[in-house]
Amino acid sequence: MSSSSTLSRPLSALAQHVATGLRQTPKALSSMYFYDDAGSRLFQQIMALPEYYPTRAEFAIFEQHGAAIAEALRPAVNGPFALVELGAGDGSKTKVLLREFLRTDADFTYAPVDISAGAMSGLVNGLQQEMPGLQVAPVVSDYATALSQLGSRPGSKGVLFLGSNIGNFAPADRLSFLRQLAAPLAPADRLLIGFDLQKDPRRIRAAYDDSQGVTAAFNLNLLTRLNRELHADFDLANWQHFTDYSPLSGAVRSFLVSTRAQQVRIPALDETFQFAAWEVIHTENSFKFTLPQIEELAAQAGLRVVDTFTDADTDFADVVMAAHE
Ligand code: AVJ
Repeated sequence: MSSSSTLSRPLSALAQHVATGLRQTPKALSSMYFYDDAGSRLFQQIMALPEYYPTRAEFAIFEQHGAAIAEALRPAVNGPFALVELGAGDGSKTKVLLREFLRTDADFTYAPVDISAGAMSGLVNGLQQEMPGLQVAPVVSDYATALSQLGSRPGSKGVLFLGSNIGNFAPADRLSFLRQLAAPLAPADRLLIGFDLQKDPRRIRAAYDDSQGVTAAFNLNLLTRLNRELHADFDLANWQHFTDYSPLSGAVRSFLVSTRAQQVRIPALDETFQFAAWEVIHTENSFKFTLPQIEELAAQAGLRVVDTFTDADTDFADVVMAAHE
């Protein structure tokens, strides 16, 4: 059988994920797989869109409160520390804090973690140009790997999880992720998390359905990736980007919509998937929070809130947390 050689090879993490996600009802794929190098570049374009306010809001918080944030984020003991950033991306906001630590002669190493090798080399090259004195120890990995490495990393830590990346987790996963993040923290260590806040639902919806179609291209790029890496035959002309926002749950949900009945062959899985007309693949959650929800989440994860910083419009919150003594 021609398929046996295909099937005897161990499946990649992506292939296994797609097999599970497309066999279930409703079909779903994780937004983690958006970030191949092309996807990371599209996300950089999203951050510059007029409709996509979160990046500008968090940048404004850092510009306005940079000194106070660096002070709150610095571990509460003397000596060297690691500044670990999960999902560093292009680091545009983090640079404000890095300059602040350099300005105050902090003894630290910046350890950015990102799933995209392309985004990471762009970040590291930029940092070497812009901040020659900075010590950088990059890690290309997913969150799960980064979390396990965090536990075995000695010394004081300031951990950054910016950009409302935390919004991608479903509520149950969010809490277990935060508990895993909290576990290796000593009481003097600090954790800074960026949360997008609930606001005018029309503004939120527009941020995920921009007029230039960049967010649509970002979502559809997932299918291009499956075509390239798993040799799937998704016809992109038969798929649409769709999002909704529910003010009750605080969730933006993104979907890829099959605009006609079709089947898609994925040779890497030796499997053909059927899609009914208007059937969807759920590809992303982007939760929006209230300040009381953030307090409750911290408490449930066994963390205390040290300080909360918001922008003038209260669009976004950067919250510094710590483990209890
Ligand atoms: C990078 C996960 C924070 O959810 O707002 C942007 C990704 N998706 N537009 C978000 C995204 C669609 C973004 N995060």
